[in-house]
Amino acid sequence: MSTSQAIETASLVVPTDSPHLPPRKHVLDLDDFSSEEILAVIESAKGMAEVLGRDIKKVPTLRGRVVVTLFYESSTRTRISFEEAGKVLSADVINMTASASSVEKGESLLNTGLTLQAMGVDVIVVRHAYSGAPYLLAQQLDRVGIINAGDGIHAHPTQALLDLYTVQDKLGSISGLKVVIVGDVLHSRVARSNIWGFSKMGAKVVICGPATLLPLDLLHRNGGDALPEELASIEVVTDLDLAIQDADVVMALRLQSERQDAGFLPSLREYIRRWQVTDERLAKAKPGALVMHPGPMNEGIEISSSIAHGGNSVIEEQVTNGVAIRMALLYQLCTGPK
Ligand code: CP
Repeated sequence: MSTSQAIETASLVVPTDSPHLPPRKHVLDLDDFSSEEILAVIESAKGMAEVLGRDIKKVPTLRGRVVVTLFYESSTRTRISFEEAGKVLSADVINMTASASSVEKGESLLNTGLTLQAMGVDVIVVRHAYSGAPYLLAQQLDRVGIINAGDGIHAHPTQALLDLYTVQDKLGSISGLKVVIVGDVLHSRVARSNIWGFSKMGAKVVICGPATLLPLDLLHRNGGDALPEELASIEVVTDLDLAIQDADVVMALRLQSERQDAGFLPSLREYIRRWQVTDERLAKAKPGALVMHPGPMNEGIEISSSIAHGGNSVIEEQVTNGVAIRMALLYQLCTGPK
């Protein structure tokens, strides 16, 4: 880097038109985000995307802050994009996996969190197989911000925020859109956070899949009475050919292979025949409908290869936008209350 580039880079702390982000200590799910806060995070991510588009992708914004990614489950997109996000903002990012730590010797999640807090860590980004694990850390640690990077089947809020950003960026707004989420909704933390996010932003959410892979509380309800107001208008449709009619967004979910022997599916062939997102089915959606997938994909199962890599697919944009959204969230937490 030349001296002039170094001076220029050092002066760019955050994009000057960065919106005001409400103070926030933790990101656990989208149920406690207002639509205004979601929009502010998206606006902030746009500024972060501008940094990512520069020749030199580095700003000193979070210099001196320490971020730990604590992953008890495997990940490609979420872990690496958080690492990239932290490094672009000049935070010190430390990656910790359960398999190479004292977790192997039986150390509990809570004691692991307390240990990291005692080292002066500012933010822990945690993925865990148990729903609620990030909430335990958020309740018990008083000096560390917690970001949920996916807990069991419960929530994946940063994925939902990058999905909302992608739709807003491609279609201009989210309110009034028809968003079809199809596949293994029952076991999908991505679906749960997206249901909150898209509903809060005023979209019409339709969930679709085999009845055995849909949450029973959404299938059997009396006029939506049992659901929070924001979720009362969700539609549940098992026939994808009906659900996809006039859709603006079609989000396919990964069929979790570990479920195939558990009696949830008639057969894999039947699943593919009835619920795969194909060219023929996408023709029933609106022209220009977006095709999304949180990844990793099972091409040829929940989504055909031609759709996954076709002109309607924004799957790679989702990954790209994930870095900017995670920069915005790290910035929000590191500059918020302690
Ligand atoms: N979408 C998602 O969470 O992907 P990874 O498991 O690769 O992080």
